[in-house]
Amino acid sequence: MSTGPGGPPETSASVSGVRAIVLVGFMGAGKSSVGAALSRRLGWPFEDLDERIQAQEKRSIEQIFQQSGEAAFRQLEHATLRSLVGELGTSPKVVALGGGAFAQANNAALLEEAGFSTIFLDAAPEELFRRCQQQQQLDRPLRGDLQQFRRLYETRRPCYLKAALRIETAGKDVEDVATEAITSLGLR
Ligand code: S3P
Repeated sequence: MSTGPGGPPETSASVSGVRAIVLVGFMGAGKSSVGAALSRRLGWPFEDLDERIQAQEKRSIEQIFQQSGEAAFRQLEHATLRSLVGELGTSPKVVALGGGAFAQANNAALLEEAGFSTIFLDAAPEELFRRCQQQQQLDRPLRGDLQQFRRLYETRRPCYLKAALRIETAGKDVEDVATEAITSLGLR
């Protein structure tokens, strides 16, 4: 359903039945950039889970890892996701998770229970690593070297595959991936 010139041209969430689009996948998958593109094109608000954690904590992800450790970060991540899910009313949202969030069973279960549309953005680990190297401004405490990166990706991939949809992102730009997500969800 079009909202007319200037408005988002996509089908409304109530018609499609989509309550929230949740982007999952490894570091470098493009979750935040595709999330921002989907938000703009659908006219739905965008939430980046890591941004919300950092704003609440008034600390960067790197500082949380350094000062409190990964286990504490995972607890914060789960609590923050739980409140985000709880706040979702009738108006839909686009949400980008951090790379490890969907690999935690409690987070995946929460999203499944809420009936959200999860999309796994995928690419080969070598490609994901290359993208992370290009984003030097982002501190990623778990990136490590290519071997560690690949090992963690392989461990987590079976979890990501539990998402409702998988989109291959290699060789595509952000807008192509957003188009594929919109089409696959029947939002156009
Ligand atoms: C993490 C990925 C990061 C961030 C944190 C942990 C992970 O998010 O949540 O550093 O466990 O893979 P991005 O996927 O946006 O880099």
